[in-house]
Amino acid sequence: MMAPVPSIDRELSAARIARDIDTLSGRDYTTSAEAIRRYAYTPEYRRTLDYVGAQLRSLGFDVSEDPVGTLIARNRPAGEPVFGVGSHCDSNRNGGRYDGTMGVVTALEVCRLDAEHRLGLPLQLISFLEEEGSGFGQMLLGSRIMLQRVSEQELRESFRSVDDGRSFWEHAEAAGYEPARWRESIHALDDLTGWIEMHIEQARVLQDTENRIGIVDAIAGYVHADVLVRGRGDHAGATPMDLRLDPTLVLAETALELERLATEAGQGTVGTIGEIDIDPGLINAIASSVRFSLDIRGPVNDAYRGVADAIGAFAVGAARRRGMTAEFRIRQTLAVTPLDGAIVAALEEAARATGEPFRRMHSGAAHDTMCVADRVPSAMVFVPCKEGISHHPDEEADPADAALAAEIIVRAIATLGDG
Ligand code: GLV
Ligand code: MN
Ligand code: MN
Repeated sequence: MMAPVPSIDRELSAARIARDIDTLSGRDYTTSAEAIRRYAYTPEYRRTLDYVGAQLRSLGFDVSEDPVGTLIARNRPAGEPVFGVGSHCDSNRNGGRYDGTMGVVTALEVCRLDAEHRLGLPLQLISFLEEEGSGFGQMLLGSRIMLQRVSEQELRESFRSVDDGRSFWEHAEAAGYEPARWRESIHALDDLTGWIEMHIEQARVLQDTENRIGIVDAIAGYVHADVLVRGRGDHAGATPMDLRLDPTLVLAETALELERLATEAGQGTVGTIGEIDIDPGLINAIASSVRFSLDIRGPVNDAYRGVADAIGAFAVGAARRRGMTAEFRIRQTLAVTPLDGAIVAALEEAARATGEPFRRMHSGAAHDTMCVADRVPSAMVFVPCKEGISHHPDEEADPADAALAAEIIVRAIATLGDG
């Protein structure tokens, strides 16, 4: 039986959340002095999980990790129903203090509030491995492994470390995990009756509309792809303009066409070239080849997928017109994810009860919830993010908003449990 939720001291929650964020922004928890940069199997990431694990143990949670390193903590024995909360605490390579980590420490605050007020909520916290893809270039990797949305061949062979080119499998084993048991990760979801992930918004809708909370009812889908253009490496000074096969020109044309296509598609469709590798990358040499990434997303499947198909064909055609070749390869895709109506409604009700301004919205960024929602009724809560800046060290969010989110989540879980 759950106890009614009493009044909650949000200032105390905000102070605890601020302390967790400050700690995890310290030099022991990032491999870079200029940004928050932590990812799977680094000592900095290990220390982050150890900090979160220790906090949860002190609340009486049983803490474990799945076969590849996703952290799972629960306050009920396996086999008993629990409600899931959490996010990820790896970061973008050029990340800020809040993306993912604020969701994990807000979930931790939910667990603290439950213990402090003896609410009796059955809880399971999950901190997913490699949401950002900073280690192996694969976004949502921990949750995709959990949902069996990868193949063993990919884990053993294709997914390779951005740093040293060794496989995910090798790295996981070297860190003491058992990737051969990756299929067992799915059992972390066995007892979940629902799931709520809190996250910073990473856009400026909440700020601009003066809302403190966003209740997320859908998450945009995406296509991640790579284009490899092969030209002819040559001397930058001695080769006349009409005798060149310069692959950077295909990159330039494709970048402009992507902007045109995404704008024309509208309906929230966006397209980005975020990675560019120029070989050999010398000031006085025409490149032999160029590889660039494509990140194309939106809340309407047909719209962003149409742009992905069109830009792939465009790049291949642009290379051909210039006497070169281009290959377009999909890295991974995920469809738009609608979230659960009952959990969204419980969150809205809880938000309304606080008297603070909130709105419903969709997420433009991807989240592990896209995978969890496949099996478990799920929703998300957003808090504002200053100027919408994210995936950048200037990222900023207010612990007071996170404290409000923690209270709303506690109240929503309590209602759902009583329903
Ligand atoms: C996740 O970090 C994303 O890029 O949406
Ligand atoms: Mn994130
Ligand atoms: Mn992110």
